[in-house]
Amino acid sequence: MSPTSQAGKSVAILGNGVVGTALAKGFAELGYQVIFGTRDVQGEKTRAALEAVPGSRAASFAEAAGAGSIAVLAVPWSGLEAAIFTAGPDNLAGKLVIDPSNPLDFSGDVPKLDISSTDSAGELVQRLLPRSQVVKAFNIVTATHMVHPRLPDGTPDMLIAGNDEAAKQRVAELLEGFGWRTPIDVGPITASRLLEALAMLWVTYGFRNDHWTHAFSLLGQKR
Ligand SMILES: NC(=O)c1ccc[n+]([C@@H]2O[C@H](COP(=O)([O-])OP(=O)(O)OC[C@H]3O[C@@H](n4cnc5c(N)ncnc54)[C@H](OP(=O)(O)O)[C@@H]3O)[C@@H](O)[C@H]2O)c1
Repeated sequence: MSPTSQAGKSVAILGNGVVGTALAKGFAELGYQVIFGTRDVQGEKTRAALEAVPGSRAASFAEAAGAGSIAVLAVPWSGLEAAIFTAGPDNLAGKLVIDPSNPLDFSGDVPKLDISSTDSAGELVQRLLPRSQVVKAFNIVTATHMVHPRLPDGTPDMLIAGNDEAAKQRVAELLEGFGWRTPIDVGPITASRLLEALAMLWVTYGFRNDHWTHAFSLLGQKR
């Protein structure tokens, strides 16, 4: 039996912040065993995440990565590479790894993309995890809309990117379980450059309007 099938319907949520907790709730609703990967298993933030997701448990990054059949990298750009190495590429080999991260540099007055037209966080993740199937998803919307997105004036779309078609299909099924319509596949993981730029547009609108609950929708899609 492969490590994936032994682990069953389980997800390693690497990072127990806003995004990690929001997505963990969605996975738990779909019947997944949630294992939070955290730097501080006994910490206050971990306790809050465990309380928010009944039935979840917390472990080290490496233990969580090994236990989950899917992993989500819910960590900031500044800690992305470190988190991947702490989780261990071997523990994530052969698995779907969902990357909702954005390579944001917070050193100025407003965030800006630290890398953009020639590279992306999604590509970095795939380079660091060559034996995993990385799918960029969820990075273009606020955490509060990641599961059951409800906006008063329309239906948002999720856009995804990745090199592995089966992994993208699995993410599409998860998204549908989370209440999204079929996501828009924008291509291989290099298309993360576009999705991370789109997130920057989302952030720019947020700062200009001091408004943080918007989302994108593509009208007139091919059916
Ligand atoms: N917030 C949103 O609405 C939103 C929307 C779309 C995309 N994103 C992206 O999603 C990612 C997570 O955002 P977030 O808002 O959930 O962040 P957050 O609330 O700050 O949580 C970040 C998590 O990452 C952990 N972490 C930080 N540095 C780490 C390191 N060096 N090694 C291992 N773990 C580390 C933190 O652990 P500690 O508690 O130990 O510090 C915390 O659990 C980011 O890349 C962000 O750009 C966020």
